[in-house]
Amino acid sequence: MDSSRVSAIKVWRLGEPGAGTDVSAVCRVCLPRVCTTWLRNSYQSVWDKFKSQTTSNFHRKFYHYGTFPEGFSWGISSSAYQIEGGWNADGKGPSIWDTFTQTTDTIPDKANGNVACDSYNRLNEDLYMLRALRVKSYRFSLSWSRIFPDGTRKSLNQKGVDYYNRLIDGLIAYNIKPMVTLYHWDLPEALQKVNGWESAEMIDIFNDYCDFCFATFGDRVKFWITLNQPQTIAWSGYGLGNMPPNVVDPGYRPYIVAHNLIKAHAKAYHTYDDKYRQSQGGLISIALNADWFEPADVNVVREVVTADRAMQFQLGWFAHPIFKNGDYPDALKWQVGNKSEIQGLPQSRLPSFTEEEKNSIKGTADVFCVNHYTTKIVSHVTARLQPHSYEWDRDMREAEEPDSPTTAIPNQKAVAWGLRRLLNWIKEEYGDPEIYITENGAAVEWDDSERVMFYKTYIDEALKANNLDGVRLQGYTATAFMDSFEWLHGYKFLFGLHHVDFTNPDRPRTPKYSAHYYYNIIKNNGFPFPDDEKMLYGHFREDFMWSTASSAYQVTYTFTAILLLRS
Ligand code: BGC
Repeated sequence: MDSSRVSAIKVWRLGEPGAGTDVSAVCRVCLPRVCTTWLRNSYQSVWDKFKSQTTSNFHRKFYHYGTFPEGFSWGISSSAYQIEGGWNADGKGPSIWDTFTQTTDTIPDKANGNVACDSYNRLNEDLYMLRALRVKSYRFSLSWSRIFPDGTRKSLNQKGVDYYNRLIDGLIAYNIKPMVTLYHWDLPEALQKVNGWESAEMIDIFNDYCDFCFATFGDRVKFWITLNQPQTIAWSGYGLGNMPPNVVDPGYRPYIVAHNLIKAHAKAYHTYDDKYRQSQGGLISIALNADWFEPADVNVVREVVTADRAMQFQLGWFAHPIFKNGDYPDALKWQVGNKSEIQGLPQSRLPSFTEEEKNSIKGTADVFCVNHYTTKIVSHVTARLQPHSYEWDRDMREAEEPDSPTTAIPNQKAVAWGLRRLLNWIKEEYGDPEIYITENGAAVEWDDSERVMFYKTYIDEALKANNLDGVRLQGYTATAFMDSFEWLHGYKFLFGLHHVDFTNPDRPRTPKYSAHYYYNIIKNNGFPFPDDEKMLYGHFREDFMWSTASSAYQVTYTFTAILLLRS
């Protein structure tokens, strides 16, 4: 019996729906859940569907010509802390990223976002570039502490509001749809002082901030994203602790913080739904990060189960409650519950939702927004039990995809075919939602033509998902608008389609080759069949004679055999 079955049994003993049931009864219930149901499950079909391509680079890499549906939302992204600068301008309060970057020496060159691209003072340049690129949407985030310096409404900073009004009005004037992220990691420092996302009080505090933003900007903003990458917030901020607020507690706090984030998202969704949707008519969702996980051996069921588990631990942690049933995926409940029991804990480290909470979380996103960068190869391991950790709870080992080009960031290989599979998985797993890719891009060493290749291949895989697999893809967002502060990498690894000269106080911006290339993709709405290749394709004359050939010696034996069988 493999360990995933053992987990299942044990968790059901601990666990929510089956608590108190005796083991033999549980076995009858849960074994089919792991085996039969699993084998029938839709997401297995995604690995199955692409199985034949796994060994054949030709199929995996063939180039697909075609265009996206009319009205496809081509966009580009940034976030407040990465580009704005003006960290204390005009009454802005500090955020946890200001505090962190100004005190740590772990970021290359001790870089920070104090000035960054200086977008706070260079709005017109930014608008000009967006217009030149002809994007249909611009994804940016609001700096919470620029609007509410201490995180709450009573500290309202009108100058911060004015800045975003100018930005939004400028976009509308150029016919660019604002896609606004309410929270892209830069929590007001004042809220961190009262325990930040560890505290359930944040649910109401965040909701009030969102309420203010909907009321203030919602007449023009029709696409809201509550949180950017809650998995990163929970794991990097509270597990690994390499991002602010730098809490190192891999076994507990990530789960607690994620729990609060999910509830905070759901509450903000309902506020929009109840108070604003009817008059404003916009959409609201959450941007979830997802790598694609490919099993080390697609023919070994246990490895495919592991790849599925990896998907559930990263994407499903948030997507399952929001897009499915208000609750965590079984894989998470089983794994964390089982490990917790073996670790001698009185209850699972994974908190549980009440029925009322489940009902209020379920269905709280109008479209599926996904940020995607890379693919990993995973295989099963029975991971260690100490220290307690989300990472070990997954029982898996990650490796790099061997055949794909590297990018500047060591663990982010450019594995374009992974995007198509990811989109298929989302389609199957979450009931064919409308999907927006809200981030996709690469940092490259020197040569921007590598970034061009990245976009060419990744967008082509998105096109295949849309045109060949029936994925309902509505939009694509390239990351990033311009070179900017890349969090823990500082200014060392840059994702921009526009170069920014950070040595010059004017921060001049210059489009790169990739900006020109992306402009053309947008203009063509994809990759229409090129004229110079059309001549290679065509039809023969009407009376052209199609035939086939054989020779007596080659076929006689077969004919004889058939005659013998018939007689
Ligand atoms: C973040 C972006 C960032 C990108 C590349 C993503 O996880 O959401 O803000 O630019 O990573 O570092």
